[in-house]
Amino acid sequence: MSDTNDSISEVLNEFTAEVNTLTAIEAETADWEVAESALKLAQDMKVRHTGKRSRLAELKKMIGRVPQEQRAGFGKMVQDAERQIDETLTRLQKAFASRLENLRVERERIDVTLPGRRHLRGSLHPITLLRQRIEDIFVSMGYAIEDDREIETDYYNFDALNIPEGHPARESQDTFYTTDGLALRSQTSTVQIRAMERHGVPIKIIAPGKVFRRDTPDMTHVPMFHQVEGLCVDRGITMAHLKGTVTEWLRRLFGPETVTRFRPSYFPFTEPSAEFDFSCFICHGSGQSGNERCRPCKGSGWIELGGSGMVHPNVLRACNIDPKVYSGFAFGFGLERMAALMYNIDDIRQMFENDVRFAEQFR
Ligand code: DAH
Repeated sequence: MSDTNDSISEVLNEFTAEVNTLTAIEAETADWEVAESALKLAQDMKVRHTGKRSRLAELKKMIGRVPQEQRAGFGKMVQDAERQIDETLTRLQKAFASRLENLRVERERIDVTLPGRRHLRGSLHPITLLRQRIEDIFVSMGYAIEDDREIETDYYNFDALNIPEGHPARESQDTFYTTDGLALRSQTSTVQIRAMERHGVPIKIIAPGKVFRRDTPDMTHVPMFHQVEGLCVDRGITMAHLKGTVTEWLRRLFGPETVTRFRPSYFPFTEPSAEFDFSCFICHGSGQSGNERCRPCKGSGWIELGGSGMVHPNVLRACNIDPKVYSGFAFGFGLERMAALMYNIDDIRQMFENDVRFAEQFR
């Protein structure tokens, strides 16, 4: 009998020794992994100390075999030992499980009062803003928007536009050349030729795009800038259509009181040719703003904008269009100077410095 009693104490001693390591792990541990392995150990101990193959299970089997008069006492001791082990482990399991739960809640806690991260709002470049406004106006007047390549052959940049080799106009539009005889276009007039080749006539297009000139950058010059080209060819088109069209789109952009002025000029691809000005959008032609000289028009009341004219017969012929049947007008102007006046930008180089603080001002 004392053997069996010794066995019970042994079982309990072994259990106590092991459970001490577990209780030494504070149930308040802040370490997720420690709490998790403690819980596992408690579950595992339950199997080892009370499961089918435990020494306790063996002792339970012996209850039936001990002499009758000792059975009740022995049985009770085994049961007590089992209850003690069971209760201890259940309590520890609960403690570690609830610790894990607390740590999980803690880990997933979010502070809903923290301020959110603000999204950066982009803004369009002033050239893009102006180009889009002009495009909208022309689209509403029945024009299509045409786009084309920036690297061109001499033929499209000059020859087809009635600027033969040796013509002085080639000098004034010196550009950048590639080693294989191509050049960056110096004017969007190239698109006139390409569009007429592509679509034939009648045609009504505008072609906004980048152009290139061999210029040294200063406050009013940059080697890459933007132009908008316009072209309208049909039967019976006259200079009156040109004047009406240019006046109309400028009125839509700057207001119905805007006045335009055409001055005789020369361009190889138009005949007759004219430069066009419009009445200043600040002083409306008076040249005075308050008591001072008006800034955008420098006191003249007029803003010079672009070139225009009736498409030269040679240009139509280059596109296989009969100048006896068809006539047309064309115009072209730059966007940088216009944007600089409208948005009060002193130095057009700022438009190409890619400083977001600059771009952010134009929403
Ligand atoms: N291409 C000319 C330039 O870059 C601008 C221009 C003038 C375009 C007259 C035209 C035009 O279509 O008819 O200076």
